[in-house]
Parts: sequence; C-alpha cells; structure tokens
Amino acid sequence: MAKISLTGIKPTGTPHLGNYLGSIQPALALAQDYLSVYFIADWHALTTLKDGKELRPLIHKLAATWLACGLDPEKTVFFQQSRVSELGELNWMLACYAPKGLLNRAHAYKAVVDENKEKGDDPDAGINAGLFTYPVLMSADILLFGSDVVPVGQDQKQHVEIARDLAEAVNRQLGKVFNVPEPLINDQVKTIPGLDGRKMSKSYDNVIPFLAPPAEMKKAVMKIVTDSKRPEEPKDPDSCNVFNIFKHFAEPARVEQRRKDYAAGGVGYGEMKEELIAALEARFGAARARYDELLKDPAGLDRILEDGAGRARQLAGDRMEKLRKKLGLR
Ligand code: TRP
Repeated sequence: MAKISLTGIKPTGTPHLGNYLGSIQPALALAQDYLSVYFIADWHALTTLKDGKELRPLIHKLAATWLACGLDPEKTVFFQQSRVSELGELNWMLACYAPKGLLNRAHAYKAVVDENKEKGDDPDAGINAGLFTYPVLMSADILLFGSDVVPVGQDQKQHVEIARDLAEAVNRQLGKVFNVPEPLINDQVKTIPGLDGRKMSKSYDNVIPFLAPPAEMKKAVMKIVTDSKRPEEPKDPDSCNVFNIFKHFAEPARVEQRRKDYAAGGVGYGEMKEELIAALEARFGAARARYDELLKDPAGLDRILEDGAGRARQLAGDRMEKLRKKLGLR
C-alpha cells in the first residue's frame, strides 16, 4: 500500500503566500508519491477562536484555497477534522498516556508562559487547557490514520515528536496499534519575509493574501518595507524584502536579470513592486477565479469535506475498535 503523508492547517486567517510556499505547495507535491491525507484543523482553531460567524467562513476559505491550488479531492483524502469524531475519542485516550511534564515542555504552550512571565503576569494567564493539550489532539490526527510522514514547518517538529512518543508508549503497553511516523521538515523551507521583513505570519499582521481580490493583494505589496535608496543607486537584492518575495514567483531567468539590475543600479522599488504584482497575478490569477467560484457554493465545499471525512474514517480502519477492546471499554 502507498505510504501516507498527512498534514493539517488551522483555519485561523486568510491564507497567505507564506502558507502557500511553506505548506500548501510542498504538500501538493508530496501528493504525487504518497497517499495524501490533508485536513482543516478546526478543533485546533478553537483554542483561539470561539466565534462561529468568524470560523465558518475561514473553514470554507481554507478548503477553497487548497482546491483552487490544485488539490484533487478524488485523490487526496481531504476533510474537516471535527467531522471525524473518532479523533476526539482518541484525543482523550492519548491524553491519558501523555505525561504532563512532556506537555509542559511543548514550545507553543511554553512560548505563552514565557510571554506571561516577561509581562509579570500569572504564568498561566489566558491559557486554556486546549492550548496546553494541543499536541495530544495533534497526535490523534497523526496516529489515527497510520501516517508515515508528516510534512510540517520547523515550528511543528516537536509536536510530531510528541506523537511519536505517544505512539511508542501505547505500542509498548498494548502491542502494536500505531505506526510511528516521521516528521518531514523541508530544509530549504521557503520562509518568505512579510511586509515588514520578519517571517510572513498572521500573528505579525504582515501577510500578502494571494487569492484575495487584486486590489487587496496590491495594497499589501505596496506596503512592503524597503530602504530609501533611489532607483539609480546599486542595491543588494538579498536584503530587499520585495526581491525576496519576487524570486519565488517570477520566471527564473527574469529573477536572474533583476538580480543583476539591482546590483548595477537603475531599478527602483516602486517598479519592482509593480513587477511583483504582475508576477503574482500571472501565477495565481487562474487559481483566484477557481477560488471565487468555489466560495459561491459553501454547501458544495461542505459536501467535499464530509465525503473526505468518510474516507478518512475508512483509513482509520479498526484501530479505534482495537483500542477500545484493549483498554477494556468494550
Ligand atoms: N498544529 C498545526 C499548525 O498549527 C496544524 C495541525 C493540526 C497539524 N493537526 C496536525 C499539522 C497534524 C500536522 C499534522 O500548523
């Protein structure tokens, strides 16, 4: 049987170029060689988002983004996490295996604790148990379907290691139930700078939404921060935020030409921004049209996600039943 590649994305914001390069594009490439299982991690989004009016459209936008970018729901098992209730059940079982001390050390949680301490607040201020046990639910996602590889960004590597630890703990005690998966970290991870030069991320509010209406995308590009060198001055392309985004989306020959133009002087940032907008339009114009079409039919998107959930359940096979028996629940 084909090996399984599994990954999830949280529907917490409008998908941006960083998501595209960092997860969507590499995951779609893996779908050529693996049985791909990709999902919308809406339960994980609840740790921060508890407003249905906000979450529903974000789920649909994320689904439409994957599909518009080329995910084929016939080939990929594509679903919404909360539609597979077994994940909630497995989450509880794994929580009963997870050492609290291990979760104390999980980066995502620790980062918030550290932030609180720095501010002089109570270390646990604003932290719900969902955030604390986030890696347990993520382990359930990974283990239920028998995944072999989990393509994630560097920031999620520790979570996959926790999933491995939990799989081994269960297997040691109950005999082999789970496959022990490998994280797949794309080394040359294409992190791109955001508008302000820091890593493009929703939490920095510095993103370029790539399937949004052209005017919105343009507005974002125009806000990319540059230094104040005049057009005729020679510039270093590698320290330019505009160039560092441009180089991922323009034709390679054009990128090389522009690299030379920067060094020689004669090209201004305004001109480069216009060219970046054109490159993004060429690359994503057709995808945006598909995206807009898909979003006109939210019920159709729900059907795709529900159908995927059924197929995901089949992949889980008798794993849950086996566990329930071994644990004495049935
Ligand atoms: N935690 C991941 C993120 O924030 C999303 C996610 C949820 C995930 N479940 C997963 C990723 C399982 C890989 C595998 O990006």
